Amino acid sequence: MTDRAPRIVVVFYSATGNVAALAEALAQGARDAGAETRVRPVAERAPAEAIEANRRWKAWVEGNPYDTQASLDDLEWADGMAFGSPTRFGNAAEQLKAFMDTTGGLWAQGKLADKVGTAFTSASTGHGGLESTILAMNNVLYHWGTLVMPLGYAADPSLMSSGNPYGASWVSKKSAAPDDDALHAARVQGTRLAQVTAKLIA
Ligand SMILES: Cc1cc2nc3c(=O)[nH]c(=O)nc-3n(C[C@H](O)[C@H](O)[C@H](O)COP(=O)(O)O)c2cc1C
Repeated sequence: MTDRAPRIVVVFYSATGNVAALAEALAQGARDAGAETRVRPVAERAPAEAIEANRRWKAWVEGNPYDTQASLDDLEWADGMAFGSPTRFGNAAEQLKAFMDTTGGLWAQGKLADKVGTAFTSASTGHGGLESTILAMNNVLYHWGTLVMPLGYAADPSLMSSGNPYGASWVSKKSAAPDDDALHAARVQGTRLAQVTAKLIA
Protein backbone atom coordinates (compact mmCIF):
# COMPACT_ATOMS: atom_id res chain seq x y z
CA MET A 1 0.00 0.00 0.00
CA THR A 2 1.42 3.37 -0.94
CA ASP A 3 -0.05 6.83 -0.58
CA ARG A 4 2.54 8.74 -2.62
CA ALA A 5 1.70 10.47 -5.90
CA PRO A 6 1.90 8.26 -9.00
CA ARG A 7 5.11 8.75 -10.99
CA ILE A 8 4.56 9.22 -14.71
CA VAL A 9 7.31 9.36 -17.31
CA VAL A 10 6.63 10.58 -20.84
CA VAL A 11 9.27 9.26 -23.25
CA PHE A 12 9.16 10.51 -26.82
CA TYR A 13 10.94 11.22 -30.07
CA SER A 14 10.10 14.31 -32.10
CA ALA A 15 11.89 15.66 -35.17
CA THR A 16 9.86 18.81 -35.71
CA GLY A 17 8.05 19.40 -32.41
CA ASN A 18 4.57 17.94 -32.92
CA VAL A 19 5.01 14.88 -30.71
CA ALA A 20 6.86 17.04 -28.18
CA ALA A 21 3.78 19.28 -27.89
CA LEU A 22 1.57 16.24 -27.32
CA ALA A 23 4.08 14.92 -24.75
CA GLU A 24 3.93 18.15 -22.77
CA ALA A 25 0.12 18.20 -22.87
CA LEU A 26 -0.04 14.58 -21.72
CA ALA A 27 2.33 15.35 -18.82
CA GLN A 28 0.20 18.37 -17.87
CA GLY A 29 -2.86 16.12 -17.77
CA ALA A 30 -1.02 13.72 -15.47
CA ARG A 31 0.01 16.58 -13.17
CA ASP A 32 -3.59 17.83 -13.14
CA ALA A 33 -4.45 14.44 -11.61
CA GLY A 34 -1.73 14.80 -8.96
CA ALA A 35 1.09 12.87 -10.59
CA GLU A 36 4.78 13.60 -10.39
CA THR A 37 6.11 13.71 -13.97
CA ARG A 38 9.25 13.48 -16.05
CA VAL A 39 9.18 14.42 -19.75
CA ARG A 40 12.14 12.95 -21.59
CA PRO A 41 13.11 12.93 -25.28
CA VAL A 42 15.18 10.02 -26.52
CA ALA A 43 18.53 10.61 -28.18
CA GLU A 44 18.69 11.81 -31.79
CA ARG A 45 20.43 9.22 -33.97
CA ALA A 46 20.05 10.64 -37.46
CA PRO A 47 23.15 11.76 -39.34
CA ALA A 48 23.86 15.49 -39.21
CA GLU A 49 23.47 15.75 -43.02
CA ALA A 50 19.88 14.49 -42.83
CA ILE A 51 19.00 17.02 -40.13
CA GLU A 52 20.81 19.81 -41.96
CA ALA A 53 18.80 19.10 -45.11
CA ASN A 54 15.43 19.65 -43.42
CA ARG A 55 14.72 23.20 -42.26
CA ARG A 56 12.13 22.26 -39.63
CA TRP A 57 14.14 19.35 -38.24
CA LYS A 58 17.26 21.52 -38.00
CA ALA A 59 15.32 24.26 -36.19
CA TRP A 60 13.92 21.78 -33.67
CA VAL A 61 17.33 20.23 -32.95
CA GLU A 62 18.97 23.64 -32.58
CA GLY A 63 16.23 24.95 -30.30
CA ASN A 64 15.92 21.74 -28.25
CA PRO A 65 14.49 22.85 -24.88
CA TYR A 66 15.31 19.59 -23.08
CA ASP A 67 18.50 19.16 -21.09
CA THR A 68 17.85 15.58 -19.93
CA GLN A 69 17.36 12.60 -22.22
CA ALA A 70 15.35 9.49 -21.41
CA SER A 71 17.23 6.87 -19.43
CA LEU A 72 16.55 3.42 -18.08
CA ASP A 73 16.42 4.99 -14.62
CA ASP A 74 13.37 6.98 -15.73
CA LEU A 75 11.55 3.76 -16.63
CA GLU A 76 12.49 2.12 -13.33
CA TRP A 77 11.39 5.24 -11.43
CA ALA A 78 7.99 5.43 -13.11
CA ASP A 79 4.76 3.71 -12.13
CA GLY A 80 3.15 4.73 -15.42
CA MET A 81 4.79 5.34 -18.81
CA ALA A 82 3.65 7.12 -21.98
CA PHE A 83 5.53 6.70 -25.26
CA GLY A 84 5.24 9.06 -28.21
CA SER A 85 6.64 8.96 -31.72
CA PRO A 86 5.89 10.51 -35.09
CA THR A 87 4.59 8.01 -37.60
CA ARG A 88 7.46 6.82 -39.79
CA PHE A 89 6.15 4.72 -42.64
CA GLY A 90 3.37 3.51 -40.36
CA ASN A 91 5.78 2.62 -37.59
CA ALA A 92 7.53 4.23 -34.64
CA ALA A 93 10.68 6.23 -35.32
CA GLU A 94 13.89 4.27 -35.00
CA GLN A 95 15.11 6.71 -32.34
CA LEU A 96 12.31 5.64 -29.98
CA LYS A 97 12.67 1.96 -30.87
CA ALA A 98 16.42 2.15 -30.26
CA PHE A 99 15.75 3.41 -26.74
CA MET A 100 13.18 0.68 -26.17
CA ASP A 101 15.72 -1.85 -27.39
CA THR A 102 18.06 -0.93 -24.51
CA THR A 103 15.57 -2.29 -21.96
CA GLY A 104 16.54 -5.97 -22.16
CA GLY A 105 18.06 -5.91 -18.67
CA LEU A 106 14.98 -4.35 -17.07
CA TRP A 107 12.74 -6.72 -19.02
CA ALA A 108 14.72 -9.76 -17.85
CA GLN A 109 14.31 -8.67 -14.23
CA GLY A 110 10.58 -8.05 -14.70
CA LYS A 111 11.03 -4.43 -13.75
CA LEU A 112 8.71 -3.07 -16.44
CA ALA A 113 5.90 -5.51 -15.71
CA ASP A 114 2.88 -4.33 -13.74
CA LYS A 115 3.42 -0.70 -14.65
CA VAL A 116 0.81 1.06 -16.79
CA GLY A 117 1.78 2.08 -20.34
CA THR A 118 0.16 4.06 -23.13
CA ALA A 119 1.18 5.53 -26.50
CA PHE A 120 0.49 8.57 -28.71
CA THR A 121 1.59 9.83 -32.13
CA SER A 122 1.50 12.41 -34.90
CA ALA A 123 1.36 11.74 -38.65
CA SER A 124 0.96 14.00 -41.64
CA THR A 125 -2.20 12.31 -42.94
CA GLY A 126 -5.24 10.78 -41.28
CA HIS A 127 -4.76 7.45 -43.02
CA GLY A 128 -0.97 7.57 -42.80
CA GLY A 129 -0.59 5.08 -39.96
CA LEU A 130 -1.60 6.71 -36.67
CA GLU A 131 -3.09 3.52 -35.25
CA SER A 132 -0.40 1.22 -36.61
CA THR A 133 2.27 3.40 -34.98
CA ILE A 134 0.53 3.32 -31.60
CA LEU A 135 0.01 -0.43 -31.89
CA ALA A 136 3.69 -0.89 -32.81
CA MET A 137 4.77 0.93 -29.65
CA ASN A 138 2.27 -1.10 -27.64
CA ASN A 139 3.78 -4.35 -28.98
CA VAL A 140 6.88 -3.62 -26.92
CA LEU A 141 4.78 -2.98 -23.82
CA TYR A 142 3.15 -6.41 -24.11
CA HIS A 143 6.57 -8.04 -24.04
CA TRP A 144 7.50 -6.07 -20.94
CA GLY A 145 4.32 -7.25 -19.20
CA THR A 146 3.14 -3.65 -18.96
CA LEU A 147 -0.60 -3.06 -18.59
CA VAL A 148 -1.51 -1.31 -21.86
CA MET A 149 -3.93 1.56 -21.43
CA PRO A 150 -5.82 2.87 -24.46
CA LEU A 151 -7.23 6.39 -24.53
CA GLY A 152 -10.70 5.05 -25.33
CA TYR A 153 -13.70 7.36 -25.57
CA ALA A 154 -15.16 7.33 -22.09
CA ALA A 155 -12.73 9.60 -20.25
CA ASP A 156 -14.08 12.83 -21.75
CA PRO A 157 -17.14 13.65 -23.93
CA SER A 158 -14.93 15.49 -26.46
CA LEU A 159 -13.21 12.23 -27.38
CA MET A 160 -16.38 11.09 -29.14
CA SER A 161 -15.66 13.62 -31.88
CA SER A 162 -11.97 14.43 -31.73
CA GLY A 163 -10.36 11.40 -30.16
CA ASN A 164 -8.56 8.36 -31.43
CA PRO A 165 -9.33 5.55 -28.96
CA TYR A 166 -5.88 4.02 -29.51
CA GLY A 167 -4.11 7.10 -28.14
CA ALA A 168 -3.81 10.85 -28.65
CA SER A 169 -3.04 11.60 -32.28
CA TRP A 170 -2.41 14.62 -34.45
CA VAL A 171 -2.66 14.94 -38.22
CA SER A 172 -0.04 17.57 -39.00
CA LYS A 173 -0.61 17.83 -42.77
CA LYS A 174 2.05 20.30 -43.91
CA SER A 175 3.72 20.41 -40.49
CA ALA A 176 1.04 22.28 -38.56
CA ALA A 177 1.45 22.18 -34.78
CA PRO A 178 -1.17 20.24 -32.75
CA ASP A 179 -4.46 22.11 -32.38
CA ASP A 180 -6.48 22.53 -29.18
CA ASP A 181 -8.49 19.32 -29.75
CA ALA A 182 -5.36 17.22 -30.14
CA LEU A 183 -3.69 18.79 -27.10
CA HIS A 184 -6.88 18.26 -25.11
CA ALA A 185 -6.95 14.58 -26.07
CA ALA A 186 -3.33 14.25 -24.93
CA ARG A 187 -4.15 15.95 -21.62
CA VAL A 188 -7.07 13.56 -21.11
CA GLN A 189 -4.76 10.62 -21.84
CA GLY A 190 -2.30 11.91 -19.23
CA THR A 191 -5.01 12.38 -16.62
CA ARG A 192 -6.35 8.89 -17.31
CA LEU A 193 -2.86 7.39 -17.11
CA ALA A 194 -2.26 9.07 -13.74
CA GLN A 195 -5.63 7.99 -12.37
CA VAL A 196 -5.29 4.36 -13.49
CA THR A 197 -1.70 4.25 -12.22
CA ALA A 198 -2.73 5.71 -8.85
CA LYS A 199 -5.28 2.92 -8.44
CA LEU A 200 -2.68 0.31 -9.33
CA ILE A 201 -0.04 1.49 -6.87
CA ALA A 202 -2.61 1.84 -4.11
C1 LIG B 1 10.92 9.44 -42.84
C2 LIG B 1 9.53 9.89 -42.54
C3 LIG B 1 8.48 9.01 -42.66
C4 LIG B 1 7.17 9.43 -42.43
N1 LIG B 1 6.15 8.53 -42.58
C5 LIG B 1 4.86 8.95 -42.44
C6 LIG B 1 3.79 8.04 -42.64
O1 LIG B 1 3.96 6.84 -42.87
N2 LIG B 1 2.52 8.53 -42.57
C7 LIG B 1 2.26 9.85 -42.31
O2 LIG B 1 1.10 10.24 -42.29
N3 LIG B 1 3.27 10.73 -42.05
C8 LIG B 1 4.56 10.30 -42.11
N4 LIG B 1 5.59 11.17 -41.86
C9 LIG B 1 5.27 12.54 -41.36
C10 LIG B 1 5.41 12.68 -39.83
O3 LIG B 1 4.87 11.57 -39.14
C11 LIG B 1 4.69 13.93 -39.38
O4 LIG B 1 5.25 15.06 -40.03
C12 LIG B 1 4.69 14.15 -37.88
O5 LIG B 1 3.70 15.11 -37.54
C13 LIG B 1 6.06 14.65 -37.35
O6 LIG B 1 6.03 14.72 -35.95
P1 LIG B 1 7.21 15.49 -35.17
O7 LIG B 1 7.00 16.96 -35.44
O8 LIG B 1 7.00 15.17 -33.72
O9 LIG B 1 8.50 14.99 -35.68
C14 LIG B 1 6.92 10.77 -42.06
C15 LIG B 1 7.98 11.65 -41.90
C16 LIG B 1 9.27 11.23 -42.15
C17 LIG B 1 10.42 12.21 -42.00
